[in-house]
Amino acid sequence: MKDRVSESGVIEDRELAEYYSLMAKRHMGIPCQRVLSRIKAKGITKGRALDVGTGPGIFPIFLSKTLPEIQFKAIDLSPVMVDIARNNAIEAGIGDRIEFQVGSAYSLPCEDHSLDLLLCINTLHHLDQPVTFFNEVARTLKPGGSFVIVDFHRDASFIWIGLFSLFWWVFFGKHPKARNGFIDSVRSSYTLDECRFFLSQSNLTHWKLYTRTLEVWMESQHGQ
Ligand SMILES: C[S@@+](CC[C@H](N)C(=O)[O-])C[C@H]1O[C@@H](n2cnc3c(N)ncnc32)[C@H](O)[C@@H]1O
Repeated sequence: MKDRVSESGVIEDRELAEYYSLMAKRHMGIPCQRVLSRIKAKGITKGRALDVGTGPGIFPIFLSKTLPEIQFKAIDLSPVMVDIARNNAIEAGIGDRIEFQVGSAYSLPCEDHSLDLLLCINTLHHLDQPVTFFNEVARTLKPGGSFVIVDFHRDASFIWIGLFSLFWWVFFGKHPKARNGFIDSVRSSYTLDECRFFLSQSNLTHWKLYTRTLEVWMESQHGQ
């Protein structure tokens, strides 16, 4: 198993961020549906939700349109991404429904025990201190609140990594700076055992972890 190669991943380059946003809008339909199905399985239809590392905001925009009674806030460390996410929400006709703000996974801009749902999609690999983030998740969720954290895992099989590298090249490979994005993300992701260890070291209690293709899904165990 290769050692992790940390990737900060905060895109400040507007042109690259716009490219990522365009590609995400085109190709993230199925991943959005998969997250939606997990939220529905937990029976969450209303309340307060936070999306951490929202990038161009594709997930909260899709979810807010489908589950309008959930009040979404979405944060990202990159001001450029937050600006693009806001514009994407306006373009989708729900500019007034989601609160986008610059913010860090290590210091969530939410009161203690105020959230019904926390999402963090494809962002954990950017975090060098996952336990600090998990403790923030534990602090901000209501008792019985739910989280869904999805990322790649570094010990996925070569077959999955090869297959997804190919997809990435087809869908995102036209921009020279985006070309290596996928493989860099996998290299900076955690192994399944590392994820389990970080969760067990954190204040999160009722969690489950499972894999799908080259992804690791970490969820609260309340509901399904
Ligand atoms: C690969 S993108 C994922 C975007 C979105 N969740 C998606 O799946 O389309 C990761 C995002 O995490 C953000 N990020 C990196 N480190 C962060 C941190 N410490 N706190 C909040 N956001 C962070 C980056 O700026 C980037 O927009």
